[in-house]
Amino acid sequence: MNQAHTKSMSTVTQTVVTTVGEIGQHEGRTVTICGWLYNLRTSGKLLFPIFRDGSGMIQGVVLKNAVPAAVFDAVKGLTQESSVIVEGKVRADKRAPGGYELDVSNVQVLQRVPETDPYPITPKEHGTDFLMDHRHLWVRSPRQAAILRMRAEIIRAARDFFDQRGFTLTDPPILTPAACEGTTTLFPVNYFDEQAYLTQSGQLYIEATAMALGKVYSFGPTFRAEKSKTRRHLTEFWMIEPEVAYATLEDIMELAESFITAIVKRCLEHRCSDLEMIGRDLAKLARIEPPFPRLSYDQAVTMLQQAHAKGALEHRFEWGGDLGSPDETYLSSQFDKPVMVHRYPAAVKAFYMEPDPARPELALCLDVLAPEGYGEIIGGSQRTASYDLLIQRIHEHRLPEEAFRWYLDLRKYGSVPHAGFGMGIERAVAWICGLEHVRETIPFPRMLYRLYP
Ligand code: 4AD
Ligand code: MG
Repeated sequence: MNQAHTKSMSTVTQTVVTTVGEIGQHEGRTVTICGWLYNLRTSGKLLFPIFRDGSGMIQGVVLKNAVPAAVFDAVKGLTQESSVIVEGKVRADKRAPGGYELDVSNVQVLQRVPETDPYPITPKEHGTDFLMDHRHLWVRSPRQAAILRMRAEIIRAARDFFDQRGFTLTDPPILTPAACEGTTTLFPVNYFDEQAYLTQSGQLYIEATAMALGKVYSFGPTFRAEKSKTRRHLTEFWMIEPEVAYATLEDIMELAESFITAIVKRCLEHRCSDLEMIGRDLAKLARIEPPFPRLSYDQAVTMLQQAHAKGALEHRFEWGGDLGSPDETYLSSQFDKPVMVHRYPAAVKAFYMEPDPARPELALCLDVLAPEGYGEIIGGSQRTASYDLLIQRIHEHRLPEEAFRWYLDLRKYGSVPHAGFGMGIERAVAWICGLEHVRETIPFPRMLYRLYP
């Protein structure tokens, strides 16, 4: 800390240290807040500093005649993001954003940001690249802080959902010997001169723990080296994945439906003020409740072809392909709830998916597309239970059989139907917060051209 900029409190009074978030419990009393200066307005003998402390913001009032001259001068020259410990009396004020103001009696400046090198992010508009280069500071702005609180709430809600339903959390490895979702999007790692990869999904491993524990889930970072530069793609993202022994596609569709509903409900119960500060239309979230519409891939293709005929979609979608971003955007903007698209052609999906016995060219899989054009937030399926079919698929996908020995064992020793899905936390946060891009949903995004800070 720069001692030259440090000023001590002139009087040492013992007051309760609290946070802006809990200030309402201290009305009429003098408290201490530890935070930063967000903004300062001056009006002659009155100063109106706004302090933030991570839990919220509060406006202080400094009256020249009511405080020692040193305190008034310290606040008067205070620069944005200087760190301060503030003492003041909590006063209810209906006009104040949080309902309270602080009549400041004392201020200790821990570090004063010099005028010669001011805090780079000002309330004026900045370009995305500039903000991304300053992500380590950008996270302090109220909107970004609110998004990070939303992320934490969504993660907590997701974990509570599974914890309360008898699922056991099992953590899969991040360093793996083989691909889970496809060989084209792997990040290679030199593992003591052996070829390893960063995991694309914990799924294969939690299939093993599901056979041990019945209902399991994992939550951790996953990596995709795809060179997609879209508003939905990160190279590092966090996925929550449940896996259930003896479950079918229908079972996990119902699970996905109640899972999403529970998360949205929790956000509305606990984080309305954050959602409002982010500018989210709460009415749209309030509509999220079961049942969600179910759309077979065949029906989805018909809808997309009709959209093309009407001129609402540029290209004509042909049966057999995987849905691309524009297709998902179109489909998901046709519903005001998440839509569950099921039974895609097996040829465009991962090797481990169980074929539909009624039409083996289709996989028993689902994608959940969030409404308002957000697209896929969940991907899942029933898993191939047959040893013979699974080994055939491994060969068809040109995957190294040796690396999958252990996975094949699961079909040799008490194989059962089982199913699960994965939800990317960042896509869920983007949809629930109504954000344009996933880059704001994670503290430090990793993308095609972004590895700094
Ligand atoms: O559809 P995906 O690839 O499915 C799996 O990985 C399965 N193994 C999951 C399972 O069945 N256990 O990915 C699942 C979800 C997607 O729906 C999306 O939300 C997210 O992970 N996701 C990404 N999020 C951000 N950036 C990317 N590049 C993502 N790729 C997938
Ligand atoms: Mg998918």
